[in-house]
Parts: sequence; structure tokens; C-alpha cells
Amino acid sequence: MFIKHTNPEDLPDILKEEYAVAFRYDAESLREYENRETMKQSRLIIIEKMIEVRHLNKSFEGKEVLKNVSMSFEKGKTNLIIGRSGSGKTVLMKNLIGLVHPSSGEIFYDSRNLTAMTGKEVKALRREMGMLFQSSALFDSMTVLENVMFPLTMFTSDSRKDREKRAMFCLERVNLADAGDLRPGEISGGMMKRVAIARAIAMNPAYLFCDEPNSGLDPKTSLIIDDLIHDITKEYNITTVINTHDMNSVMNIGENIVFISEGRKAWEGSKENIMTSTNAELNDFVFASDLFKKVKEVESFTNEEG
Ligand SMILES: Nc1ncnc2c1ncn2[C@@H]1O[C@H](COP(=O)(O)OP(=O)(O)OP(=O)(O)O)[C@@H](O)[C@H]1O
Ligand SMILES: [Mg+2]
Repeated sequence: MFIKHTNPEDLPDILKEEYAVAFRYDAESLREYENRETMKQSRLIIIEKMIEVRHLNKSFEGKEVLKNVSMSFEKGKTNLIIGRSGSGKTVLMKNLIGLVHPSSGEIFYDSRNLTAMTGKEVKALRREMGMLFQSSALFDSMTVLENVMFPLTMFTSDSRKDREKRAMFCLERVNLADAGDLRPGEISGGMMKRVAIARAIAMNPAYLFCDEPNSGLDPKTSLIIDDLIHDITKEYNITTVINTHDMNSVMNIGENIVFISEGRKAWEGSKENIMTSTNAELNDFVFASDLFKKVKEVESFTNEEG
């Protein structure tokens, strides 16, 4: 999507909101952006809600956790970060949302360099992000509806009525319209995840980060959560990044997959080519379970037959 480098006021109303973000660049980052190779001739601004990680390194007290990681995450896609426990997925995601500062390297949100931002700028950018944590992180003392209203209460000056309306809309979207008055202690793990998704989308985020969204859920409920995240990503054209080691999720919603092994990017691709990859480290991860070993056997058998 291209728009002209122009005055926001000149945009048609329908575009103003979606592209408002384009005009938040300060003069310096705009200059930097225009100097980028691809921009040199066109003098156009691209608003792609693209996240780009460049040569990211992160060490804790001399221990290297992320090693020269480069990757990009696209708008309207479920982008998956996969890898074994301890490979560095959560640390990578914390870098993406600005909770952890990299030892070196850069993270760009389109032209905006997160790694060069002040704390205040990072906070402003975070308002464009929705987050879904492993534990759901709901407030036990609040009702489901109040939990979903929480970011709106924190970050907007909307009236209580408007906040309730938006929160109800989000609860309806995750099929929990009737659960608003319940407390987190009174609902199942799968419902808690759905409440957390409703809360994550309450602020209409451009970016959605989910760290192990299926942890603790049975396979069928996991599928429901995967599909919900996938559908919401498409519906609102969100740049969604999901950490997982669940191969069912990979095969269900893995549109753009990055495989991390011991802090390095070891492979990238999609669910369409993950099963046929010859990358030994990746195969070690993918075919660790008996089920996926069998799938591979059946596939190679079918190929031979065919
Ligand atoms: N704050 C920290 N200080 C020191 N080491 C850390 C810190 N945070 C993470 N690590 C280390 O970084 C490595 C990667 O951890 P991370 O939590 O990113 O793994 P992960 O891929 O998310 O694993 P899992 O699938 O179990 O969630 C681990 O060895 C961990 O001990
Ligand atoms: Mg983790």
C-alpha cells in the first residue's frame, strides 16, 4: 500500500485513521526513512505495519541468548516463532515489544526504529500493540467485562458507556457475550484465553503478540484459540506474532514461520514447506513427536506411490 508523502488533512476521511500513524514520524526519522535504498527515487511512504528485526543480539551477563537474528513479520498474517524450550522465543518477543533492550541490532516498525526510541516513545508505540501472555494475566478481582475494559480505562478518556460498549463488542467477537459478569476464577482456561484475546484487541491494535497462546489447553480448545487469533488477524489486518512449540498450531496457522535454534534463526518458511524441509535441526524439532513422524512416513509413502 503506497500513499503520497502529503498532509494528513488532505487524506479522505476513511484513510485518516488507518494512516494516522504515518504522520507521527518526526522530521529526523522521516529523513532517515527517505534515505533508505528503496525509498530513494519514489519519495513515497509505505505503511505496511511491517516489523523488521535486523542483526539482533541479546546477552544476559555474558550469556548469548539471541545471535544475529534477522527476520520480518507481515501485516494480516499469523507470523510464528517456533523452537524448543529455551531457544530464545520469549526473549525475542520481549525485545519486539520493547520490554528488553537488545545488546545490538535494530527493530523497525515500518520506519520507526524501536531500538532508538526514548521510553516515552516506546510507551506510545505500545498503545498500538495487543499482548496475550502465557498465563492470560487476568485480574482476579475484576469481572470479565472489567478486565476487557481495563486498557480502555488506562489509555483512553472514553466515557464508561463507550468503554463498556467496546468491551462488549470484543467479548462478542470471542463468543463470550454472556460471561461479562463472571470473574476469572469462575471460567475455564480456554475461556480465560478468549477473555485475554478480547482484552488484547480492545484498543484495536495494529500489532498482536501472543506468547504460547495454547499453553495448558487441550488440543481441541487449542485449535479454537488458534482459529480465533487467525480470524481476528485477517479481519482487522493485524501484524500478529505468535511464539509456539505446538506443531498442531504450526500446521494450522503457520503462514510465515521462523525457526529459532539456540538463539539463531535456523530456518524460515511456511506450513506448506515445513514438512518437506531437509534442514536437520528443523526436522529434529518437527518430527520429535510420533504423530508427526507417522505423517512424514505416510507422506513419503504417498509420494512414492504417486
Ligand atoms: N532475564 C534473564 N536473565 C538471564 N537469562 C535469561 C533471562 N531471560 C531469559 N534468559 C535465558 O534465555 C534463554 C531463552 O529463554 P526464553 O524464555 O526466551 O526461551 P523460550 O524459547 O521462550 O522457551 P519456552 O518454550 O520454554 O518458553 C534461556 O536459557 C533463559 O534462561
Ligand atoms: Mg517462552
